[in-house]
Amino acid sequence: MRPVLHDAGKDLILRTARTQNGWLDVPVSDDLLREVYDLMRLGPTSANTCPARIVFLRTPEAKARLLPALSPGNVDKTKAAPVTAIIGYDARFYDLLPKLFPHRPDMKDNFAANARLADITAFRNGTLQGAYFMIAARACGLDVGGMSGFDNAKVDAEFFPDGRVKSNFLCNLGHGDPAKVLPKLPRLDFDEACTLL
Ligand SMILES: Cc1cc2nc3c(=O)[nH]c(=O)nc-3n(C[C@H](O)[C@H](O)[C@H](O)COP(=O)(O)O)c2cc1C
Repeated sequence: MRPVLHDAGKDLILRTARTQNGWLDVPVSDDLLREVYDLMRLGPTSANTCPARIVFLRTPEAKARLLPALSPGNVDKTKAAPVTAIIGYDARFYDLLPKLFPHRPDMKDNFAANARLADITAFRNGTLQGAYFMIAARACGLDVGGMSGFDNAKVDAEFFPDGRVKSNFLCNLGHGDPAKVLPKLPRLDFDEACTLL
């Protein structure tokens, strides 16, 4: 029998875990950020492209560079979070395929010759890795709060000036303040979202 995740594990990663809007003053170590990355990087991506790139902002100085790009409603919680991750993707991810997909040396050239395929692949797989990141963070004992309310162009100009990496979404990390969690919103039932053929 294959093992299955026990109830406490399901609660931790998805069932009772909640998006956080406020943060306790509990630091997050760089070692823990490395542990999260070492777990999330194992999630699958097409042709093992691994396009996600992450910038961890863990000081007031680093956060200050991000604040002008945020929607007003995201400013206070981002200031309060011990860490804010910029989840981006490398538009030239295929340059690393000789390392990541060494048995198919032609794969790099496929993407280099097809900009549309490269763009879709980078965004699709970078987004998947962003989801793995949030689940991995929870599995490592952190709370998360995703944010897409920000100006991507401003973030890209500030943090990725050479244009190679593009921001996707932001994710606050730390230990959430339960008092600031919003009421749970409904989800679609199986029959509303799924089809069995
Ligand atoms: C990619 C992403 C972007 C989000 N953007 C924002 C945002 O800009 N501002 C905000 O207050 N909440 C944002 N949220 C939070 C969502 O509204 C929240 O995760 C959703 O309502 C589910 O809440 P729950 O995890 O507590 O069930 C975002 C979440 C994700 C995953």
